[in-house]
Amino acid sequence: MNYSFSDRIGGVKPSAIREILKLSSDPSVIAFSAGNPSADSFPKEEIEQFASEILGTTPVLALQYGLTEGYAPLREALKARCRQVYHSFDDGIDELIVTTGAQQVIDLLTKVICNEGDTVIAEGPSFVAALSSFKSYGAEVRQVAIDEDGMDLDELETAVKTARNPRFIYCIPNFQNPTGFTMPLEKRVGVLNIARKYNLLVLEDNAYGDIRFKGEHLPTIKSMDDEGRVVYAGSMSKLLAPGLRVGFVSAAPDLISKMVVAKQVGDVHTPVLNQMLCHSFLTRSDVPEHIKRINALCLRKSDLMLSELDAKVDGLFKYTRPQGGLFIWCTLPDGVDMMEFSGRAVRQRVAVVPGNAFYADDVARRQSFRLNFSSPSDENIIEGVGILAEVARGMC
Ligand SMILES: Cc1ncc(COP(=O)(O)O)c(C=O)c1O
Repeated sequence: MNYSFSDRIGGVKPSAIREILKLSSDPSVIAFSAGNPSADSFPKEEIEQFASEILGTTPVLALQYGLTEGYAPLREALKARCRQVYHSFDDGIDELIVTTGAQQVIDLLTKVICNEGDTVIAEGPSFVAALSSFKSYGAEVRQVAIDEDGMDLDELETAVKTARNPRFIYCIPNFQNPTGFTMPLEKRVGVLNIARKYNLLVLEDNAYGDIRFKGEHLPTIKSMDDEGRVVYAGSMSKLLAPGLRVGFVSAAPDLISKMVVAKQVGDVHTPVLNQMLCHSFLTRSDVPEHIKRINALCLRKSDLMLSELDAKVDGLFKYTRPQGGLFIWCTLPDGVDMMEFSGRAVRQRVAVVPGNAFYADDVARRQSFRLNFSSPSDENIIEGVGILAEVARGMC
């Protein structure tokens, strides 16, 4: 049968990149292409113990339908954490609901805010699944260049002024996906000021916020918001485990009520058992100690990949030195075909994510690619970086 699909999903296209990524699931390929936290970071015994206690003592609560807004004790625990750690929840102006990952926050906000043809302003490059979500609602995506110093604010203002009906600015200030960049404080203030000046919302995605293994935490944009302009997306994926699919959003009550309606027709609610596991973890585990452990793990992996790059790449391409998160962003010299590089690497059994993937447009030639250091084994990091350096030597 021939199927005909909606324009909405027809516009979200698979690409040559997918062919490269498909190969990453082959176990003989060294996958620097993943976005996964290290499996060693999961507190498996604790989760097992919490699950058996929950199912032993409150099985019906865990297995029955729940509220769309989320499991109330978890909402309270998340509010408390947002107040104390990220100052991203203000009792006077915010409400918070549990979502099925931070991904669902992106989806719900776009659904309730954007009409077809409206524009979302995002960083360039940015998180692929967010860009796809914006496009799936018929929104135009305008991307504003970022570097180690964050978003280019002049370019941001021009984009806002010239875009058709801009609705919100999407940014990932901490350890951005894919670049690993951290937006400096003055740029956070600058983004908020531009949003104020042009009456836009900001969607602040802090999916990686807890994974800081160097330097000091910076204030969230949400912490500077006193008028309900910033929508703050958080996640338990990197803090606890992504398979649980638990995230949350803190925003003005009017926005939250609409997102609840949208969630009701989406997945009804986030699995209650998973929410209860997150609640047990937040209220009974030593969370700061757990964060210390996963950050030590990420620091070790990131240092290993960087020292291998330092030793083997020999200036053939550039790469970032992240203060947190899961990624290193590499840039080939001008004139080197990045897709050809990525293709050659995967034929040598090392998968990277070509930089094109992180742009909403179809510009074929971009010079960068993303490496993940958290999930490959040490041996694979050492071997894989050697192979990338070899491929680069043949092309640069
Ligand atoms: C920047 C960013 N935001 C959101 C998400 C989605 O996170 P979650 O697992 O909470 O849906 C990811 C996942 O990789 C991400 O990189």
